[in-house]
Amino acid sequence: MEDLIIRPMTEDDAEAAERVSDAAFLGVDRRSRRVGDPEPTGRTPEHRAGWLETTRHLVRTDPGGCWVAEDHTGVVGVATSLRRETLWCLATYAVLPDRQGQGIGKPLLAAALDHGRACLRGMLSASTDPRAVRTYHRAGFELHPQMRMTGTVDRSAIPVVEKVRDGSAGDVDLMDSLDRLARGAGHGPDHHLLLRTSQLLVSDTSTGRGYVYVAADGRPVLLAASDRRTATRLLWAALADTTDSVTVAHLTGANQWAIDVGMAAGLELHQEDYLALRGMKPPAPYVHSGTLL
Ligand SMILES: CC(C)(COP(=O)(O)OP(=O)(O)OC[C@H]1O[C@@H](n2cnc3c(N)ncnc32)[C@H](O)[C@@H]1OP(=O)(O)O)[C@@H](O)C(=O)NCCC(=O)NCCS
Repeated sequence: MEDLIIRPMTEDDAEAAERVSDAAFLGVDRRSRRVGDPEPTGRTPEHRAGWLETTRHLVRTDPGGCWVAEDHTGVVGVATSLRRETLWCLATYAVLPDRQGQGIGKPLLAAALDHGRACLRGMLSASTDPRAVRTYHRAGFELHPQMRMTGTVDRSAIPVVEKVRDGSAGDVDLMDSLDRLARGAGHGPDHHLLLRTSQLLVSDTSTGRGYVYVAADGRPVLLAASDRRTATRLLWAALADTTDSVTVAHLTGANQWAIDVGMAAGLELHQEDYLALRGMKPPAPYVHSGTLL
């Protein structure tokens, strides 16, 4: 502990930080594993590449929000956060498993929280780690349980989905407006990252507007809409293209419309972790991205 320092993260730290984050979350998955669940494995190469791209993006957009803890052994902890308009989001917070509970995480989180001190709102997707949840609660966050739906979509249940088109960078202003409606702040530069890494579907009619980013495996990454009907249409459009098992994560109780879609599609509902919020209610109709929220 004597030589531990907390310092701003650079892009060169990304690979070491990824290894810390992967090991820490593997530990969480092992602890929260239920009877019958498969043995958790570390990240896939695709997941790792996505994590690295997102983290390097955040170091560039929010150098004051991204921190590492380092000692003579190298990087032992990481916290990345972002500020978008009046909203602060925590993207990653992790300490190496064999170094947890020794006071490393506390100053790391303090540095990231300081980046958001002028923000009226805060948002983060909390793991089930009791240390993390206690810390967020103490920092003034309310904890909202999240659910996750998983399974293979029943093809016979898919309705005819109309009024959905492919989106592009020309939709960013519309998407930022929808973000402000849902969570009080646009995603700004994060839309350009998401446009590079996932497919964008948009619904823009006289009665409702919305968008959904869809990952290569068919998973909806981020969805925002002006109304439940448009949100429902977009979630079906995302699910309609899946053939293998798909997961729809980060569903709060405020988004029953998404649970209605998942149930109709034959997916299984599971209790997951928490959406931690400060200065705001659970956004709806909205499915957050986990990292960029
Ligand atoms: C969450 C995490 C980053 C915290 O880092 P850490 O170095 O373990 O945290 P610290 O030792 O600084 O302790 C932070 C707080 O948790 C408390 N704590 C420590 N061990 C605890 C335990 N077993 N149960 C409950 N609280 C505990 C500490 O007392 C401290 O609270 P304090 O402010 O009252 O002193 C780290 O444990 C981790 O990587 N967990 C797995 C990944 C994860 O869940 N990340 C959060 C994602 S949202």
